[in-house]
Amino acid sequence: MTELQRTLPASWYRSLPLYHLERRAVFLKAWYLLGPVTRFHEVGSKVYYEIAQESIYVERHSGTSVLPTVGELKVVHGSTGLELPCHLTPTGLLFGTISQDAPDFYEFYPDLEPLLERVDFTRLPHRRSIKYEGNFNWKTMVDGYQECLHCQYTHPSFSVYYPPTFYTVYNHLNFSQHVADPKKPDDGLFLYFFPNCTLNVYGGGMSSFRVCPTENPNVTRMEFDYYHLESGDKFEEYFKFVRQVAMEDYELCEKAQENLQKGVYNEGILNPVKETGVAYYQNRVFDLVTDQHKLEKLCGGSEKGGGR
Ligand SMILES: [Fe+2]
Repeated sequence: MTELQRTLPASWYRSLPLYHLERRAVFLKAWYLLGPVTRFHEVGSKVYYEIAQESIYVERHSGTSVLPTVGELKVVHGSTGLELPCHLTPTGLLFGTISQDAPDFYEFYPDLEPLLERVDFTRLPHRRSIKYEGNFNWKTMVDGYQECLHCQYTHPSFSVYYPPTFYTVYNHLNFSQHVADPKKPDDGLFLYFFPNCTLNVYGGGMSSFRVCPTENPNVTRMEFDYYHLESGDKFEEYFKFVRQVAMEDYELCEKAQENLQKGVYNEGILNPVKETGVAYYQNRVFDLVTDQHKLEKLCGGSEKGGGR
């Protein structure tokens, strides 16, 4: 019998030195979904982000068309003022990095673009953004996102529209595709971008959230961007529905983190069919963190392996 995949140990969800290692091993070397291009249509206005204590902003610096081209956009590091690599996919998603340590976009996401081709991400305008902190580690939220075993009892309203019967997760290098119903590829499409971004097309609109680690490994800042064709009542109805699901996850994560901090639970096993998304991303974190640790040991210092 093949051995069942184990979870990351509970200590990885509450240790500051471990988070610092994750920051150098995972976050500084990753790409981030900054949003559908509709988010950046206004010339001269800046959209700010803070990921793993690095501040960046996106600016459309020129152009007159409704949607900007990649040449009209720039991603800038907040404290150095230096331009960072960015990439606009053919169907309209803007990705950027937070440092020069990230690899080339196609090295990080070799098979992302063909999959995105069938969805037009430019059709929905940005309507609202919100952010708030929660008492949980960034991985506690990603664990929940990457499986839907909890959906039936945590999200009763969501489960009516997207029954977990059909729910499937396909893992690719550095991203996972969740499909609620294969017959409706444009509704119930959930994408997880390693390490901490998501894009969710459901309920008639689209949302994107970032799970941003703070300097306290037990506290995470959640940032949500909402997109919808309609403003007014139609949008508010969608917003209410998706906020309900988000708050159900939030409560679940705070409870799970309390248990991770108690010191009784250490690690468990993952369902080999229903939790492949969790296994996939946790393995990425584990491999990158252990490689970084070895590299820094060889170099003889914790800051030498990946530039701060
Ligand atoms: Fe959930």
